[in-house]
Amino acid sequence: MSQDLQIVAYCCEHCAYAAADLAGGLRLQYPPNVRVVLLPCTGKVDPLLILHALEEGADGVMVAGCLPGNCHYLKGNFSARRRVAYVQQLLKQIGLEAERVEMFHLSSAMGSRFAEIAKEMTERVAAVGPNPLRIPRKEREP
Ligand code: FES
Repeated sequence: MSQDLQIVAYCCEHCAYAAADLAGGLRLQYPPNVRVVLLPCTGKVDPLLILHALEEGADGVMVAGCLPGNCHYLKGNFSARRRVAYVQQLLKQIGLEAERVEMFHLSSAMGSRFAEIAKEMTERVAAVGPNPLRIPRKEREP
């Protein structure tokens, strides 16, 4: 069941992406349904980007940025955290589970933590079930 879930992980290249890379290098197991998307900073994440991923069928979205105080663009991770909280509120208002979206903070040395949060998000999303907005691909294609 959880193998069918799709989770988009928007990862900052300075920390979470490097942590994901480290997890791979250390051969740490994490669910293959987590798709990592590289960003220069999580400050690039806006609510529409998260909502678009859900609209396109992602069952969950995680945003992983630098540790508080370590953002290379000063406050990008704080902006992302506020935007994730905003999207969680929006999801509740439209009847979707806020648990589908979460913000995490990592350093580039936290490969095992990346593997943990990937598992945590997969379990969390599995608990609420598939995204009801997901339209099967064959129905979307003309
Ligand atoms: Fe990593 Fe901003 S540079 S979150």
